[in-house]
Amino acid sequence: MNLILLGAPGAGKGTQGALLAERRGLRRISTGDLLRDAVRKGTPLGQQAKGYMDAGELVPDSIILGLVREVITGDAEARGFIFDGFPRTLPQAEGLDRLLEELGNPLDAVVVIDVPDDQLVKRLSGRRTCPNCGAVYNIYFEPPETPGVCDACGGALVERADDAAETVRRRLEVYRERTEPLIAYYERSETPVRYVDGDRPVEEVQREIVRVLES
Ligand code: AP5
Repeated sequence: MNLILLGAPGAGKGTQGALLAERRGLRRISTGDLLRDAVRKGTPLGQQAKGYMDAGELVPDSIILGLVREVITGDAEARGFIFDGFPRTLPQAEGLDRLLEELGNPLDAVVVIDVPDDQLVKRLSGRRTCPNCGAVYNIYFEPPETPGVCDACGGALVERADDAAETVRRRLEVYRERTEPLIAYYERSETPVRYVDGDRPVEEVQREIVRVLES
């Protein structure tokens, strides 16, 4: 199964994608995680991407499409992919269509996770991540047992640089301008589009995603 999770910054794509990938034995491809990893390691890709990410702007399509192609074609064993944070523009969506067609492995569904803007802003301002193991927390909704410390590995939790208020505002604008129009693109395609109310506790949202995928 190949699936796209579509939603604004903070809608819960990463949280839900990780749960679903584990449940279904699928590979989650988060372009945001891949880019952050490249920035941390200081690779040429990371050096190219950093400025865009810090400003809340999108990294150029050619870079993203090359990155996704490399990951997909390098993982022949995967039973399917959950795309999280990709595609984000029309050229990326068209590029993904071409790539999946080449592989004879079509897209099965697009799940749109909807959350009101005030909740998105609160979620992003409260997000804390563990740079050591990648675990994600939220000081308002999913706090760690000890403030500032990762439950899973004991690492020190940090705020993502692009979760600063000004950058969040820009990321939300970019989502509305460049990514939200993809919903209409997929509605016109043969791929089923399913809508999920993401403004509920994590487990409830997950149950709803599983339900809409089975319907
Ligand atoms: P990316 O990392 O993809 O960021 P994003 O889309 O802005 O998404 P987020 O990771 O902020 O949110 P999410 O929806 O995954 O929510 P999460 O589950 O973490 O991209 C970052 C940057 O990289 C972009 O701005 C761009 O520069 C670049 N980039 C990436 N992909 C690109 C592409 N394809 N093209 C071009 N550029 C690209 O949850 C958020 C918080 O809420 C967490 O604290 C979590 O614990 C909490 N939470 C989750 N669910 C719930 C719930 N149900 N109730 C309460 N709290 C919840």
